[in-house]
Amino acid sequence: MNKHFEDYKPQTFNQIVFEEHDIQQQLLGYASGSKRKNILLWGKPGGGKSLIADIIASSSRRENAIFSSDRATVINGDSWNKKSIDMILGAYNTGSSYVVIDEVDELKDNQKELTAFIDRYGRVGKLILTTNAAPASLLQRLVDRCDVIEIKLPTSQSNFPQVRKMFNENGCKHYTDEAIKTLIATTNGSWRQIETMFEDEIYYNAR
Ligand SMILES: Nc1ncnc2c1ncn2[C@@H]1O[C@H](COP(=O)(O)OP(=O)(O)OP(=O)(O)O)[C@@H](O)[C@H]1O
Ligand SMILES: [Mg+2]
Repeated sequence: MNKHFEDYKPQTFNQIVFEEHDIQQQLLGYASGSKRKNILLWGKPGGGKSLIADIIASSSRRENAIFSSDRATVINGDSWNKKSIDMILGAYNTGSSYVVIDEVDELKDNQKELTAFIDRYGRVGKLILTTNAAPASLLQRLVDRCDVIEIKLPTSQSNFPQVRKMFNENGCKHYTDEAIKTLIATTNGSWRQIETMFEDEIYYNAR
């Protein structure tokens, strides 16, 4: 039975390969609970921001052992509505885990509402925001209330071992080491594009 890309996704913080050691150390502080701030993760599509946000939120939750579920509370920016603030407040009141707001640029004018909420309740640092947009295009007052961290796409071959393992274990014979290096280079390391190539290959092999 072939595996899927899903089976190779990092489940814990330590399984994530970071391009920059300093960023890894900083994020580890939030994931381990030794550091508590609102966080804004930004960077190009497919670099793993949503996944990293989810893992940090889930690990801080596990540490506190307040919830039975390992899932983080995640709100998608494009589904923001009147009830979203209530939902965040509810999550704040039931435990001390992070709440993820994915694609915060989609909030558009509602970024003001979120900023007002942070000023009222959020000073302890319980939000992880993600966005593709450069921080300069977001509401400045919102950005000011966060540690701003850029998640870069892999520029070197840092994800090579993981990608090679995926293709090798699933009998993708024409993905030689050279072909995998080319794949990483042409996708600029975007995990989402690597996912598409891998799933295509699995589908092709299974026929
Ligand atoms: N280190 C990793 N190893 C394997 N898969 C990963 C890794 N990081 C992310 N992924 C997977 O790659 C895909 C893209 O990652 P993700 O959605 O987190 O990127 P993103 O930065 O949030 O992109 P976008 O800006 O488009 O929202 C997802 O399926 C994710 O689970
Ligand atoms: Mg995302």
